[in-house]
Amino acid sequence: MIASVLSSAVIGIDACLVEVEVDISNGLPVFTTVGLPETSVKESRERVKAAINNSGYPFSDDRITVNLAPAGIKKEGTGFDLPIALGILGASGLIPVNILSEYLFLGELSLDGRIKSVKGSLPMALFARDSGYKGIIVPADNSREASVVEKISVFPGKTLAQVVDFLQGNTIIEAEKTSVSNIFENKEVYDTDFSDVMGQEHVKRAVEVAASGGHNIIMVGPPGSGKTMLARRITTILPPLSFDEAIETTKIYSVTGMLPKDRALITVKPFRAPHHTISDAGLIGGGHIPKPGEVSLSHNGVLFLDELSEFKKNVLEVLRQPLEDQDVTISRAASTITYPASFMLVAAMNPCPCGYLSDPKHECRCTDNQIHRYRAKVSGPLMDRIDIHIEVPAVPHRDLMKDARAESSENIRKRVTDARSIQLKRFSRTKIFCNAQMNSRHIKKYCRINKESVSLLETAIDRLGLSARAYNRILKIARTIADLDGASDISVDYISEAIQYRNLDRAKRLY
Ligand SMILES: Nc1ncnc2c1ncn2[C@@H]1O[C@H](COP(=O)(O)OP(=O)(O)OP(=O)(O)O)[C@@H](O)[C@H]1O
Ligand SMILES: [Mg+2]
Ligand SMILES: [Zn+2]
Repeated sequence: MIASVLSSAVIGIDACLVEVEVDISNGLPVFTTVGLPETSVKESRERVKAAINNSGYPFSDDRITVNLAPAGIKKEGTGFDLPIALGILGASGLIPVNILSEYLFLGELSLDGRIKSVKGSLPMALFARDSGYKGIIVPADNSREASVVEKISVFPGKTLAQVVDFLQGNTIIEAEKTSVSNIFENKEVYDTDFSDVMGQEHVKRAVEVAASGGHNIIMVGPPGSGKTMLARRITTILPPLSFDEAIETTKIYSVTGMLPKDRALITVKPFRAPHHTISDAGLIGGGHIPKPGEVSLSHNGVLFLDELSEFKKNVLEVLRQPLEDQDVTISRAASTITYPASFMLVAAMNPCPCGYLSDPKHECRCTDNQIHRYRAKVSGPLMDRIDIHIEVPAVPHRDLMKDARAESSENIRKRVTDARSIQLKRFSRTKIFCNAQMNSRHIKKYCRINKESVSLLETAIDRLGLSARAYNRILKIARTIADLDGASDISVDYISEAIQYRNLDRAKRLY
């Protein structure tokens, strides 16, 4: 007899249908799995057999063939255990075959029949809803993440026997209920705040401008000047995640299996700070079966590269494509996969190998040559994609001793959110959503400046030795500063502030 059970596989961050067909026919007791199964799927035989036996059902001693269709998609992971077991029990006549087609199933089986957590139940829920299925049965540990999807019933499965009882109509499994609005109401609480940072007003202003326009930013300064401290607080001033952004980011964590089981949804902008020893695959994603990397784990949030000059050159090179496209395409022999990767890049580094160049209190002992080599590691195309360059000087002692608290993240975030609303409206008919994403056509349209500003800009480029490429960057930043001010026109003041955020272009002349 043949039984067919539905399940899903994940390609990128989206699920697609996989049909698990099980045929039991007379013959020698062999158990074969066909349809491009990876090792982990082939091994499911042993788990399924033990789980069926230990749940008190007879395991057929006839010939069992399992076919995973469509054959073109590689099947990996342990999530097909449950559908395979149900297929075998269906083909043995223990479960009504027609009811199997109403649900999608996913779950790993332990030898004693418990259902263990797997990756990708959120994409499965989205797929099942969009394809009109009645419900999905997923491991109890993954049911919360799946249940944020509305209009689909998500049944938490604890054991094989419980699911079989449910399908036989002998027991009820309560569908998991999650109130998305409740999750969003539970406002995120950060344990850091901008009010912890004393002084550094002009740096904080630069960070606020960066956050407001979604601009990438690099902070350059001596050890202990507070670069890392500032970077770790940037998510606290970014506008909150929207529901759609939350779903998209959560999908990435769901397919990577990184979602904590008590969390239904990622509601806080991700902040990722990979160590400088990371590989290119770790950063942009990869592997035999491609997995998302840090650029995707920071999707809709912040990717912080501390000690930028310590990263391997080839690793920084691969950042260019996601920075340009806001997604990342990984090609492997097996497949080509695209993951979303729209993040704000925040970088920090010292101005020279010893760190103290331009520090009034310490002497820098680096040679010109050393400084040049140090800088060259991050020069060129990557720097071109970083809008705001800001120098972070050592904090004067008296600023640190000040008793007064600095402005809170909550206040700053209000201004940032207002500036972003202006941009959302401006770009509502386009595919972009913030000033940093403007291309030259957008810049022409939205960053018109008067003659006075044009001549200021030209002087800056000539006298300060700014690169010509800096021109468009400055216009974009000036647009953001104007938005922070609620101004529709870009005045000369905004241009002159924006010019200050191109420190590194200027500093190049020093070396
Ligand atoms: N503006 C500031 N207000 C309050 N504390 C500060 C400030 N700047 C620095 N600090 C203190 O100094 C510590 C060191 O700062 P941080 O690690 O951010 O420096 P850094 O610029 O990243 O240095 P490095 O180049 O060595 O990485 C912070 O943990 C904080 O306690
Ligand atoms: Mg640091
Ligand atoms: Zn030095």
